[in-house]
Amino acid sequence: MTIQTISKGPFEGQKPGTSGLRKKTRVFMEPGYLECFVQATFNAIGGAAGKSFVIGGDGRYFNREAIQIMLKMAAANGAARVIVGQGGLLSTPAVSNLIRQRQTDGGFVLSASHNPGGIDADFGVKYNVSNGGPAPEAITQTMFDQTQTIDSYRILETADVDLSTCGTSSAGDMQIEIVDPVTDYAALMAKLFDFDKIRALFAGGFTMRFDAMHAVTGPYATSILERVLGAPAGTVINAVPSEDFGGGHPDPNPVWAKTLMDEMMSDAAPDFGAASDGDGDRNMIVGCGVYVTPSDSLAVLAANAQLAPGYAQGLAGVARSMPTSAASDKVAERLGLACFETPTGWKFFGNLLDAGKVTLCGEESAGTGSDHVREKDGLWAVLLWLNILAERGQSVASILADHWATYGRNYYSRHDYEAVPTEAANALMQGVRDQLGALAGTTIAGLEVTGADEFSYHDPVDGSVSHNQGLRLWFAGEGRAVLRLSGTGTEGATLRVYLEQYAAPEADHGLTPDVALRAVRDAVVEITGMQAYLGRIEPDVKT
Ligand code: G1P
Ligand code: ZN
Repeated sequence: MTIQTISKGPFEGQKPGTSGLRKKTRVFMEPGYLECFVQATFNAIGGAAGKSFVIGGDGRYFNREAIQIMLKMAAANGAARVIVGQGGLLSTPAVSNLIRQRQTDGGFVLSASHNPGGIDADFGVKYNVSNGGPAPEAITQTMFDQTQTIDSYRILETADVDLSTCGTSSAGDMQIEIVDPVTDYAALMAKLFDFDKIRALFAGGFTMRFDAMHAVTGPYATSILERVLGAPAGTVINAVPSEDFGGGHPDPNPVWAKTLMDEMMSDAAPDFGAASDGDGDRNMIVGCGVYVTPSDSLAVLAANAQLAPGYAQGLAGVARSMPTSAASDKVAERLGLACFETPTGWKFFGNLLDAGKVTLCGEESAGTGSDHVREKDGLWAVLLWLNILAERGQSVASILADHWATYGRNYYSRHDYEAVPTEAANALMQGVRDQLGALAGTTIAGLEVTGADEFSYHDPVDGSVSHNQGLRLWFAGEGRAVLRLSGTGTEGATLRVYLEQYAAPEADHGLTPDVALRAVRDAVVEITGMQAYLGRIEPDVKT
């Protein structure tokens, strides 16, 4: 074993955010960089001695090299056992599941999620704790503190491990188990959903396209949809994970999954379309001719989950991140379910799930999940939709129309302003913050402001409080806008503007989101003074 000393901490000022540490790949490849982060993580959890971990990633550039380094470090730090996905692959929900099933002390996910991969793109490492969920704030803070003082890391000088074959081997005194990435996850899905019903749906001619976006869900979707559930070969496209995701941006939304969107809006559209992101935790749902927003998807799943065996007992409650539309609140209200609003980031759902207060949760950013793991889960959402479609025998469009006729429609859109100079973004936010006390009761761009605040979350389980979680503006007629700065961007700042307008069950549900949201958007443009701060009012990405 070697103890490598490092002269200068490579981590100055770098703080792991809500999704672990994300940086340019070349930064992670700098000598000692990944090593320091991993050592800081081991230090932060009280050392690795005698502990067990799961390690896997989404297959992006540097995935396998990073795993080799981490295995040697885990061995040098005295870990007892590490479970690794074959080929270095594991989706984020599969890591979460393995941590729980095998009762390991934690696990590492190597991914920058939906960010592009490659030597000139992004890489990331995320640490999950023993409940299978992302490390809570207290641990990420300690990791950060460790990175500020770290002066050495431990690594075992030994040969690389063969990641390509399942089986058990060892490095020093540490046991290494290479497992098929799909098997345990597929078994969990088979317990939650009525696979016979879904098999019968496909056998009856139901058609589907799943875009794996050259990322980690390729093997999972091919195995479960095509091999187990009998969907025809070719149902899953872009199914082989590649180091740069085929040169694309593995983010399942109408902008980045454009090929799928085009097919779903064409005359030759299959009945159902779906996509997942780099590490398999996000999902996009689209029917023949109709896109389902993630907020609506959460609401539809909440209203229909009981149709799947895993949720037949009913839901304890539903949680959504604050910027997510209130569509799921409408369902919870009507069905008498508990309903929670949390800050952005999956980790805030962990306590609610562990305490049994909620069964389903979701975010507007294409994340949906349940208490089956402690991460959002892309393929799980797709399978729950399939189970519901199989039970109801209706198209996605008619399920959505029924839903809106029952609960009303929450028109919704997110506008992203990317690579904004950090000072300009901060100044814009501060400008709105300064007005918060004076906005209620005023009329802006013809719309009455009914309230404004900055969101703080009081965790009902551990009593902790998280401040500064986004600025909220409410308008007459159940309109809402939310402003926040992204915590995951890697260039400058990203301003996210979330627009929402409720339309009651009997109202018109056939407007385009742009039309339905125009009044709220005009008010936001005026309140923020966006033109002056950013030099533009048009976003880079609208989802
Ligand atoms: C984004 C999403 C957020 C999600 C996170 C990690 O964070 O908005 O919902 O939890 O990625 O996938 P943001 O960049 O907005 O901070
Ligand atoms: Zn992801």
